Formats: sequence, C-alpha cells, structure tokens
Amino acid sequence: MNAENTTPTIAIVGAGVIGLSWARLADAHGWTVAITDPRPDLAEIVAAAFPDSATVRAAADLADAVSDADLVQENGPERLPMKQQLFADIGAAARGDAVLATSSSSITASEIAVDLDADVAARVLVGHPFNPPELMPLVEVLPGTRTASTTTDGAVALYRALDREPVVIGTELPGFVANRLQAAISREARYLVQTGVVSPADLDTILRNSLGLRWATIGLFEGNVLGGGPGGIRHLLAGVGAQTGGIEPGVPATDPDAMERLVDAVEATYGTGEEVYAELAARRDRRTRAVLAALADTDGESTTR
Ligand SMILES: NC(=O)c1ccc[n+]([C@@H]2O[C@H](COP(=O)([O-])OP(=O)(O)OC[C@H]3O[C@@H](n4cnc5c(N)ncnc54)[C@H](O)[C@@H]3O)[C@@H](O)[C@H]2O)c1
Repeated sequence: MNAENTTPTIAIVGAGVIGLSWARLADAHGWTVAITDPRPDLAEIVAAAFPDSATVRAAADLADAVSDADLVQENGPERLPMKQQLFADIGAAARGDAVLATSSSSITASEIAVDLDADVAARVLVGHPFNPPELMPLVEVLPGTRTASTTTDGAVALYRALDREPVVIGTELPGFVANRLQAAISREARYLVQTGVVSPADLDTILRNSLGLRWATIGLFEGNVLGGGPGGIRHLLAGVGAQTGGIEPGVPATDPDAMERLVDAVEATYGTGEEVYAELAARRDRRTRAVLAALADTDGESTTR
C-alpha cells in the first residue's frame, strides 16, 4: 500500500466478466481501481459500469494501470502464452512489492512464471475467484513453485481486506479444488439427464432444494457429522453410508452428438442470448445476496468461515 494512501490500489487487467466484477468489489470497498484492456471501447465500458465513481478509471495502457497497484488482478483470456507475456509486461511495470495474481481457472502460477525473472516470479500466484467475485466469497490461492511465501501471505491479507474468503491450496492440480468438485457433480448430472432419469430443470430443482441449500449453510463433512446424529460420521458411514457407499458413478456420453443433445435440452430449459443472460444473472445475484444477507443476519461476521 502506498504511504500516502489509506486504502489499497488494484489494477484490473482484462475487463470481461470476471475483471469488471473484481472492479465492482474493490470499488465497493473504497479501493482505487485502474482498469486496462486492449478493447477499443474500454473507456465507454468503464464509464457505463462506474458512472458515479471518482476512484475507478480506465488506464491508458497496461503499464499505467499496474504501476501504482498493491494488487494486480489479471483476468485476460485463458491462454498460457498470452498470460506469460502479460505477466512479463506486468512485472516490468509494477511496483516491487505488488502482489501479481491471475484469476485463471486452469493455468498455474508455475506455468506462467516459468520464464520470468526470479524477483517477478516470486510475486506471481493464482487468486481464483468463483463467478461473480463481487458476491462469491471464495478465492482459491495457489502459489507456484517460485512464489515467495510473503506473496501468498500478502494476497491472503488483500483478499481478506475485500471481505473474501481466501483458501491457500498447496498443490497445483488441474481444476484446483472447487472446480474439481463441480466437475464430479457435473459428470453425474450429465449422466442422469442423458439417460432420461431427470430433465435438466428437475435436476436443478433437486440440487437447489437439497445439496445447494445444505452447502450454502454447512460443508460436506460437517453435513456427514450431522447426518449420523449424535454418533456423528462414524455412525453415518456404518449405517446409511454402508448402503449408499456402493453407488456406482454414472459415465456420461461425451461424443459430440450426445453433447449437442444435452446442450439443446439445457438451452430449451433456460433460453440463450443477451436478454436471457441479463435476466438470469440478475436473478442469480439477487438470490445470492439474499442468502448471504440471511446468513450474515443469523451468524454475524463468521458466516463464511
Ligand atoms: N467466467 C468465469 O466463470 C470465470 C471464473 C473464474 C475465473 N475465470 C478466469 O478469469 C479470466 C477471465 O475470464 P472471463 O470469463 O472474464 O473472460 P472474458 O472473455 O469475459 O474477458 C476477457 C477480457 O480480456 C481482455 N483481453 C484480451 N487480451 C488482453 C490483454 N492482452 N490484456 C488485457 N486484457 C485482455 C478481453 O478484451 C476481454 O475483455 C480467465 O483466466 C478465466 O479462467 C473465469
């Protein structure tokens, strides 16, 4: 943080879905925000997204955006050569004590930093949010093999200052943790729809009214403890668990025709296009805020812990 500033400065690199959401989160926390993106309509996008903010600006270029940042949050396209080049450029222009984070869902800090100078590589890590980061508290923090522990500590502190819930993951495995869990459930969901057991709409109804609601309040293992009654997880595994433990996971068809039919069925359920996206996103955000507010109301500060 700059000595003269009382709140941090964030550079948002890439003003797409994730970058603009990080920008809204930082703006809501009173941070100074500089946004960079090569798209020619960047100034219009920033003006439209932040009509009343004196502390959010469209930067002239990448160097201008990152030069004063405490946290650089990169949200460019998910392509390794592009991120490698971006971080070389970011490293050349950013302050020596800035945390250099990528929102990447799949590319690791070790891959990005492979050709970077040691002092830059030491400050690169993954800070992977769940969409949209302005509402979803989780940030998976994955340091690479060359990341300094002070960088990881600094990133955790900065994300906490944004009221996020950072979790440091020590192993750089594909999909990290949250998306691996999502992939496991998605596999079974696709199998159940493809084999005609449920429609896409019914599958979503089942999820929202059971696991979704459960997992908004307590975690999976905490749920196991409660599922076993006073005997806890041991009782659960010996009782109901002994019966359900033998469920064979389904294998969804992944050939192009089967995937096309699945996509058609989901599109027929929810629709497609700009208007549908805006409506569904607004509904998602309203409902997510309602759940978060209800949890904060009932639990106070420790809701997401
Ligand atoms: N969409 C999600 O659900 C989600 C969730 C978590 C993480 N992520 C990660 O966030 C990152 C961004 O994803 P997104 O969904 O916001 O993509 P997006 O396509 O909405 O936005 C990408 C933006 O990057 C810009 N860009 C292109 N080249 C650039 C450059 N050289 N410098 C700066 N910006 C550049 C594009 O103009 C575009 O505005 C990806 O790494 C992705 O893996 C996405």
